[in-house]
Amino acid sequence: MRFSLNVDHIATLRNSRGENEPDPVTAALLAEQAGVDGIVVHLREDRRHINERDVRLLRELITTKLDLEMAATDEIIKIACDVGPELSTIVPERRQELTTEGGINVIDNINRLKDAITDLHNAEILVSLFIEPNLDQIDAAAEINSDFIEIHTGVFANAITEEEQFDELDKIRTAVKHAKKLGLGVNAGHGLDYQNIKIFREIPDIDEVSIGHAVIARAVFTGLKEAVQEMMRLIK
Ligand code: PXP
Repeated sequence: MRFSLNVDHIATLRNSRGENEPDPVTAALLAEQAGVDGIVVHLREDRRHINERDVRLLRELITTKLDLEMAATDEIIKIACDVGPELSTIVPERRQELTTEGGINVIDNINRLKDAITDLHNAEILVSLFIEPNLDQIDAAAEINSDFIEIHTGVFANAITEEEQFDELDKIRTAVKHAKKLGLGVNAGHGLDYQNIKIFREIPDIDEVSIGHAVIARAVFTGLKEAVQEMMRLIK
């Protein structure tokens, strides 16, 4: 199973001061040095974290694989076709949400998504649709020629009881099998962390996981002691 790192949170921190640091592009390059298989960024309509400069610089500098998360709007599709990531992951987007809240409804948006996939394929970009582990949604994704699906793992990650967690794992396992039978690649993500990944990795045939929050949150703490000591040395 490959692992792509989402660096949106680094851009959120940068933008909170309106300055240049920390730079998500530097974070991506460090992650590549650490062995990550790909970099994920979500270019949102409101540009709350990642901006066009980040996407274009990442395209030039990273040597693994760029996965551009995006809504299927004309503006963002145009940017994607111009930048040329290896993969575009189409997600639903609501302005008020703190983070992507669930999968896209492929069935209800079939014509718009079909057009988006055609445009992206014409620019030689592979497409993934971020969806719930639902067999009808997977059938619809295959029908409109999506290359991958990304299964939303948020319900699994937020499950309170063990029973709920195992029920959702079963759904995901069945969804992966179904998607693979249809020839789709299968990614997964949202809410995966250092605890739940231990159970999640037992599901066979998932090509890649996309993880952001847990890793960036952990990096703050693993790096904090060294950062404080460095400042102490300069001050004293
Ligand atoms: N996959 C998709 C489609 C997402 O929108 C996100 C969150 O940006 C992730 C994966 C990563 O989720 P998390 O930050 O919870 O690891």
